[in-house]
This record gives sequence, structure tokens and C-alpha cells, in this order.
Amino acid sequence: MPVITNIEDLKRIYERRVPRMFYDYCESGSWTEQTFRENTSDFDKLRLRQRVAVDMSGRSTASQMIGQDVAMPVALAPVGLTGMQHADGEIKAARAARDFGVPFTLSTMSINSIEDVAEATGAPFWFQLYTMRDADYVSRLIQRAKDAKCSALVITLDLQILGQRHKDLKNGLSAPPKLTPKTIANLATKWAWGIEMLRAKRREFGNIVGHVDGISDASSLGAWTAEQFDQTLDWNKIARLKEQWGGKVILKGILDAEDAKMALKVGADAIVVSNHGGRQLDGALSSIAMLPAILDAVGDQVEVHLDSGIRSGQDVLKALALGAKGTFIGRAFIYGLGAMGQQGVTKALEVIHRELDTTMALCGETQVTNLGRHNLLIPQDFGGHWQD
Ligand SMILES: Cc1cc2nc3c(=O)[nH]c(=O)nc-3n(C[C@H](O)[C@H](O)[C@H](O)COP(=O)(O)O)c2cc1C
Repeated sequence: MPVITNIEDLKRIYERRVPRMFYDYCESGSWTEQTFRENTSDFDKLRLRQRVAVDMSGRSTASQMIGQDVAMPVALAPVGLTGMQHADGEIKAARAARDFGVPFTLSTMSINSIEDVAEATGAPFWFQLYTMRDADYVSRLIQRAKDAKCSALVITLDLQILGQRHKDLKNGLSAPPKLTPKTIANLATKWAWGIEMLRAKRREFGNIVGHVDGISDASSLGAWTAEQFDQTLDWNKIARLKEQWGGKVILKGILDAEDAKMALKVGADAIVVSNHGGRQLDGALSSIAMLPAILDAVGDQVEVHLDSGIRSGQDVLKALALGAKGTFIGRAFIYGLGAMGQQGVTKALEVIHRELDTTMALCGETQVTNLGRHNLLIPQDFGGHWQD
């Protein structure tokens, strides 16, 4: 067993173990991937203030997200096709999150269904909703999430149409993979993945297949999105969905202060400052660069979370110190899952927790809830200088 000290170590094992099609699906941004790259590199621009001679005993990373206790404010983000990265991937990731004490978010485009995850974990999780043209299907999906006792609905707003990711088109991304000479050649080198996948509970989109009629090709993410996603989604519809759900609502994919104010108006319990991990609007600024302006606009009235680009506990600390109350990780936990299943997700969480805890101590803080801008050195032009 190799010694794993950081998220990059998990990524290297992940790349070796998982079929290329699914590695590329995870490790891509849209078009030129500028936003994807800057999501991570912009964290480096924020620097930390070292403080000394502070009693660093009794540290705690515990806090709350939307009123729920968390061992650290780091949730697992909704990731479509997680069950293709590792057999029963959603169940394994949800169990790792439950045991660690952080929230797990199940994607609409998951392989394991809402019911699979509820049954296998016995603990509440969050459900991420993509809105579809078929309003009946959306109502049934919301009802299924209620029946499964999901404790929050995460409505994703930045993917009504798919940002183009070149590799997915070239690879013919599908779940399960279609057998072509190219995929067969690659799958032949991933036998451990394949053997486990043969035993998996599911290999198709568990929330969709068997729950909707008349789809031309449910295995293709691109075709399904183009045909089924509701391009007419607007704030009125969001308000109606919130009403239909009746519980905690998190609006995900906010990257602009004006949209953050609209989210506030419809009564969101939290927003996630996110550009979908650089997978949608290439050319948009990174989430961390947009965070200060959004916090200035709504930070004292709604809980603000952040994702996109987090690869370490230091990144988590920087987002929290800027003022976010919570964070989500996408790829960081997928690397762990693909590398080592449930154990790998736990490893990813442990790595991030250790980095967060140690960095907090070296910044002279003992409670994650006391982090603030006083812990950071923020470049004067951090958000960029742009014309009105
Ligand atoms: C492979 C992959 C699939 C994703 N699928 C979904 C999804 O189904 N629903 C959703 O709201 N976000 C989805 N996202 C976006 C994540 O929830 C999250 O916003 C993003 O991964 C954060 O960036 P990070 O990967 O740099 O942490 C996906 C991201 C990746 C990498």
C-alpha cells in the first residue's frame, strides 16, 4: 500500500485504475479549461498569516452547515456517474461521509438510486436536483427524496444546457460504456475495476432508468441533458420547487452578486458559489475569486458555501477565512473513490481534515468557526479590476 499524504497521491492511483472515459469525464473543464485551471490556481494567490505563541490545544474543526452538525464544513458535492468511477460508488461515498460526519449529496445523474443510498446508509443525505421538462418526473423525484428522508434539496442552476467538454464527445461517454475497439482496449487494462463493476448493484442511471418513458438513449449523458433538461428554468420555477420541497433548500451554481440577491429573495437556506468545477461557462472567473463580492452582497443574510477548485484543507481554510460557512469537494473525493473505494473517500477526508487542522493551528486559531479575513493576506486586485 503506497503512503498517501495528499490528494494528488490519490489522483495518481485513480488515473491508473479507472477507465479513461471516466477519468477524462472527471478531469475535464469545458472548452479551453481556463476556468477549470484558475479554480485551483487562484487559491494560491491568497496567502496565510502565520501567528505564534498561541495555545493551540483543544482545536476543533466542528461546525454547522444549514443548521446540521458537521465534523468539518466540507460536504461531498453531487457528482454524476459516481457509480462508474467505482462499483456502487454513491453508496460507498455516502457511507464514508456518514462515518466521517460530513454531508453527502446525491446527484440526480447518479448510478445508485435515491432508494439504494437511503437503504445502504440509513442516514440522511442531501439530494441534488436537475430540473427536467417532464414536470411529473420532477415531482416524483422530489417525492422520492422526501420519502428517503433527504435533509436538504440542492438545486443546481448552472446546467440547463451542457458546457462542451471535448474529451467526453471524443470518448463517446456513456454509462455503462459502449463497447468499441477503443473502449475494449482500455477496459482490458482496468480489470480490477471491471471485476468489481460486474458485481455492482447498478450500471445505469438509477434515478432515471425505469422511472421515465420515451428517452431515446438513457445511457448518454449528453443526449439525455439535451433532450430532457428544462431550459425554461427561472426564479419563479425555483420558488415553486422550494415550495414543493418544503424543507431546506441550497441553490448551487451562483457566481454573480446579482444572482445571489435573487437567491436570497426566493428564500434559499444557503447558496453555493460555484462554476460547476469549471465544466460549464469557460471564461467565468474562479469561485474563490468571486466569493468576496458575493459575500459583500448577501453574506450577512444567507449562508454562503463554496466549491470548485478545492484540493486541500488549506483551500478549505482560505474559503472559510474569506467568509464562506461551508465548502464542497467534487474531484478530491472522486480521486479517492476511484483509487480505493470507500476507504479512498475516507482517506481524502482525512487528508483534508489534517491539512485544515494543522494550518488552522499554524495560523494561531483553535476553532474553525473563528477563522476570518484576519488570517489571510489578500492581494488588492484579488477579484480583478473590471470595467462597470
Ligand atoms: C465528474 C463530475 C460530475 C459532476 N456532476 C454533477 C452533477 O451531477 N450535479 C451537480 O450539481 N454538479 C455536478 N458536478 C459539479 C460538482 O458538484 C462540483 O460543483 C464541482 O465538482 C466542484 O469542483 P471541484 O471538482 O474542483 O471540487 C460534477 C463535477 C464533476 C467533476
